[in-house]
Amino acid sequence: MKFGHFDDEHREYVIETPKTPLPWINYLGSKEFFSLISNTCGGYTFYKDAKLLRLTRYRYNDVPMDINGKYFYIKDGDTVWNPGWKPTQTELDEYECRHGIGYSKFKGVKNGVRAESLAFVPVNDNCEVTRLVVTNDSSVTKNISIFSYVEWCLWNADDDSRNFQRNFSTGEVEVKGSTIYHKTEYRERRNHYAIYSVNAPITAFDTARDSFLGLYHYAADPEAVFNGKLTNSMASGWSPIAAHQLDVTLQPGESKSYVFVLGYIENPVEDKWESHNVINKKPAEAMLAKYDTDAKVDAAFAELNEQWDKLLNIYTVDSSNDKVNRMVNIWNQYQCMVTFNMSRSASYYESGIGRGMGFRDSCQDLLGFVHLIPDRARERIIDIASTQFQDGRAYHQYQPLTKKGNSDIGSGFGDDPLWLIAGTSAYIRETGDATILDEMVPFDNDMSVAETLMEHLRRSFGYVDTHRGPHNLPLIGRADWNDCLNLNCHSVQPGESFQTFGPSEGPVAESVFIGGMFVKYGNEYADLCDLKGLTDEAAKVRKSVAEMNDILLDSNAGWDGEWFVRAYDSYGNKVGGNECEEGKIFIEPQGFCVLAGVGVESGQAQQALDSVKKHLDTKYGVMILQPAYTVYHEELGEVSSYPPGYKENAGIFCHNNPWVSIAETVIGRGDRAFEVYKKTCPAYTEEISEIHRTEPYIYCQMVAGADAKFHGEGKNSWLTGTAAWTFVNISQYILGVYPTLNGLSVDPCVPADFGDFSVKRVYRGVEYDISVKQNGVQKGVKELIVDGVKVEGTVIPYDASRKTVKVEVVMG
Ligand code: BGC
Ligand code: NOJ
Repeated sequence: MKFGHFDDEHREYVIETPKTPLPWINYLGSKEFFSLISNTCGGYTFYKDAKLLRLTRYRYNDVPMDINGKYFYIKDGDTVWNPGWKPTQTELDEYECRHGIGYSKFKGVKNGVRAESLAFVPVNDNCEVTRLVVTNDSSVTKNISIFSYVEWCLWNADDDSRNFQRNFSTGEVEVKGSTIYHKTEYRERRNHYAIYSVNAPITAFDTARDSFLGLYHYAADPEAVFNGKLTNSMASGWSPIAAHQLDVTLQPGESKSYVFVLGYIENPVEDKWESHNVINKKPAEAMLAKYDTDAKVDAAFAELNEQWDKLLNIYTVDSSNDKVNRMVNIWNQYQCMVTFNMSRSASYYESGIGRGMGFRDSCQDLLGFVHLIPDRARERIIDIASTQFQDGRAYHQYQPLTKKGNSDIGSGFGDDPLWLIAGTSAYIRETGDATILDEMVPFDNDMSVAETLMEHLRRSFGYVDTHRGPHNLPLIGRADWNDCLNLNCHSVQPGESFQTFGPSEGPVAESVFIGGMFVKYGNEYADLCDLKGLTDEAAKVRKSVAEMNDILLDSNAGWDGEWFVRAYDSYGNKVGGNECEEGKIFIEPQGFCVLAGVGVESGQAQQALDSVKKHLDTKYGVMILQPAYTVYHEELGEVSSYPPGYKENAGIFCHNNPWVSIAETVIGRGDRAFEVYKKTCPAYTEEISEIHRTEPYIYCQMVAGADAKFHGEGKNSWLTGTAAWTFVNISQYILGVYPTLNGLSVDPCVPADFGDFSVKRVYRGVEYDISVKQNGVQKGVKELIVDGVKVEGTVIPYDASRKTVKVEVVMG
């Protein structure tokens, strides 16, 4: 069952009812100022860091679902309603929410009044602009009142939700004209404040929550709104808010438009004040002047759309499959941008006060984003590498505001160092910019011990190479990609963090998965060594990689008989082997070893993937392991803490489904690669939204597995490495347009009935117009013709002097 539909022409998902199974959200902003916005106008706003500089409050896990947002109330006679339905939940005559690329539009109609809003964050500004247009579609004159409402957060969202003894006394505001200034803590150490304004004279305002809502009321029934008159309250402590009142008369057929701006303003420390305790408002006024007419808002909105036109023109496909077209051309790339910006910090499942930027997460997010804005990818790589330790280990997380490693979590995750190679290699393959390897990059943010990025990569590889266990496999440390395989943790006390409890590194517990990464990214590192003329290092690395390849295929180490082992625990026992009672087979090493090319020649690759299909497949996607753990295993850690079928314990972890799909393309099985792709693909799961429940236009992290009560139900939408990996899968492996160090390669692997298709790809400044004749073939390039000339192999030789290149590919 669907709750809306795709509008591909406008790049929008159109939600037709506010009563979606879960809040369906969108993100506004792509640089420093961000808002989350749900299909009922819920959500919140922050500047740079969702924990430290939160502008508006949100209440996670409260009831009714999705508490707090940026609301407009319309009072028309005795009826009070919201264009987005919440919070009053007054039944609307018409409702529509259009989530677009960096903006959201709402339409609510009640008793002949139509309210339409458009919310977006301008490309280069620290504010959210909302234009609200009200129209009288009835035949009588309407006298209505419009009320806005936001609740300020006292900046540090964590402290804001805990430290009431202080926070109930610190709130301060100013009001000037139609602008409400939130200035809590500005009198002391802050030099920033927030504003909420409207470009029209107001009848009244409120800035104290109690006055607006009334004691013992909710946002669903604010007393001042129902009374038809805000009280001009000035907050003093407690909970400051911003609410405007506009009294509006509309003749039949008449429309009026209002622009609301919610902004973040910083002043130089020496220029904080206009007079004694009166804040300097000049920069705020300058910001507001930029959006005070419809024409200016139109221009800012056009700029946003043009930016996205440009970005989304870099990779486009035209195939006979609409679902593939819409995911590739619009939503998958959009989600990649959002995950790159947010890492795992702020969603409806990540509270914004928990995790900062993940080392491995950010490196992987880059894989799906690097073609869009390579400059920012470059900067991100340097930021990430700057948190690395001298011996090659890495901080697992860092704070976006300070860019410093997070010492609460610390280091010791066995896979982290290798992801840095993955991100850097992707950047250079995309851009050809090898100068990044010569950049001097600090260790642990200490510039006095800086080395080149190339040296950082050498230490990444070297760390894993020199930290092996009894089977000569890489040590797992605190965990590898699977954060819940905590083989050295052995925790028995409730509440201990599985990720940080126990020694960061045991000498025994090993990861076969990291072995697969070692092969994949060892090879990519060796290629970079070649590029830099470091032939000895390249040879040394390839030797280690070849040895690892053998270890992975060895039935006394990485191979179990019909699939790859997952790991060895701290007693040296197998994890993910046929001899295990539960957790016999895991998805990660099957996908990753095969995509790295391990076992392709020996046939073990195909055997491993056949085992995946046999043991892990479901109609909703491929599960992470089977059989699920039914009891807690202290020697395995968090993986066995989840009830069967959820999360890492036999859930369908969408992130590693593309690994399996890519692995299938490596052995040439296009039908199966696409079957795996389809199962978790939002454009396909849209049809079962009542089961899947999360947004049908983007991926979620986890879908409940076959053992779970709610098999097929998604959770943790938006911020997941699934976005990057599915885009890599569909764009580079299934459609097959893969950036190599020497140029674009075209080697599709598609289902037999996929049909001909074409891809437009802007790459290193050249536009490639690629058309593929499929001939009913799943894999194999019979002919590659570049501007009419036949070329051997699958790589289009890169020629910077050409602006456009026509490429014909004949499969066969
Ligand atoms: C989750 C993992 C996540 C980890 C991060 C665990 O509780 O299950 O998916 O990576 O927390 O700390
Ligand atoms: C989510 C985390 O963000 C990611 O780093 C991890 O790899 C997966 N969970 C699997 O545990």
